[in-house]
Amino acid sequence: MEEITIGVIGAGRWGPNLIRNFNSDPRATVIMVSDKLSARLKLIKERHSDIAVTEFAEEIIKNPKIDAVVISTPTSTHFELAKMALQNGKHVFVEKPLATTVDECETLVKLAVSLNRVLFVGHIFVYNAGIQAVKKYIQSGELGSIHYIHSTRTNLGPIRTDVNALWDLGTHDVSIFNYWLGEAPLKVSAIGNCFLNPKVEDVVFATYSYPKNILTNIHVSWLNPKKVREIVVVGEKKMLMWDDMDIQNPIRLYDKKVTLDKPEDTMVDTFIGFRASIYEGDTTIPKISLNEPLAAECTAFLKAVREPSSSLSDGIKGTEVVKAIVAANRSLIERGREVSL
Ligand SMILES: NC(=O)c1ccc[n+]([C@@H]2O[C@H](COP(=O)([O-])OP(=O)(O)OC[C@H]3O[C@@H](n4cnc5c(N)ncnc54)[C@H](O)[C@@H]3O)[C@@H](O)[C@H]2O)c1
Repeated sequence: MEEITIGVIGAGRWGPNLIRNFNSDPRATVIMVSDKLSARLKLIKERHSDIAVTEFAEEIIKNPKIDAVVISTPTSTHFELAKMALQNGKHVFVEKPLATTVDECETLVKLAVSLNRVLFVGHIFVYNAGIQAVKKYIQSGELGSIHYIHSTRTNLGPIRTDVNALWDLGTHDVSIFNYWLGEAPLKVSAIGNCFLNPKVEDVVFATYSYPKNILTNIHVSWLNPKKVREIVVVGEKKMLMWDDMDIQNPIRLYDKKVTLDKPEDTMVDTFIGFRASIYEGDTTIPKISLNEPLAAECTAFLKAVREPSSSLSDGIKGTEVVKAIVAANRSLIERGREVSL
């Protein structure tokens, strides 16, 4: 396949970033953009006079000159647009989350397989160099077995009305945890509250249980004074902090641990029988060659179109994330009851 021609549906806050990145790749050209709002199309035309624009997504989906469709519309519209694009023979990049139900995701995955098309989900963080470096620390065993992971993803806005903070922000964390641990969660308990809009949680605290007794916890909110993008990984041997806001040094590796010494001549079934010793070694800041995650993600999609193989964020991985978010939403409705996946 020569140059891959692309149509982008949705040119709101995020769509223009996808247009810019795909267009700056020599192996791809964005030839058409669609948005329901003519004001958004006017902006696109001002920036890219050579791109055709339309208010009708179908004009992209049914355009025989377009190889791949990129969907960057609100979550509630992903399924119908992605289904139509696959049925019209297009490779599809869908922004996260893939769809709003597990059934919808599974339908898309089956369609993509049966039509031999790529279904790719915009889980951008698995293409982030810092997140990829943390995976190496976890895989190499340097941290020892993982005890728990805690993520904070807060800011003041952007406030969504079609999905809650867990759908919007928590999908990033679940995609990161699944990528790091190489597994999907087993159970979840979540609580949250709706302050700005009825039935749309602005803040959610969700705790997932993964295999091997690993706990992960997510705090997401768009109603918070501070923009925080931090994840702490606590291992048996070492601990680590990833901070996406620290552009130069996103990872700090703490040579800290607690060992429980068990004196031989003491009864071990009492608290006094154990002696905890705290070890605090050096904190190191590894050099990470930073990348532009969105550019890496766009390149990965183009590669998947050329060489169909399982990518880091294919439809199956996108489905696992949606499964985890759907289960957490069920728990939210039941005020924190633990829900199995
Ligand atoms: N990967 C990331 O870091 C990241 C960041 C922001 C948003 N996103 C995702 O990108 C998607 C879009 O988010 P956003 O912040 O740009 O939302 P937005 O509301 O700012 O923009 C969505 C645009 O889609 C248009 N639209 C809606 N239905 C349409 C249709 N049927 N045909 C054509 N246009 C249509 C709207 O008019 C709007 O301009 C969401 O899925 C979101 O989760 C991802």
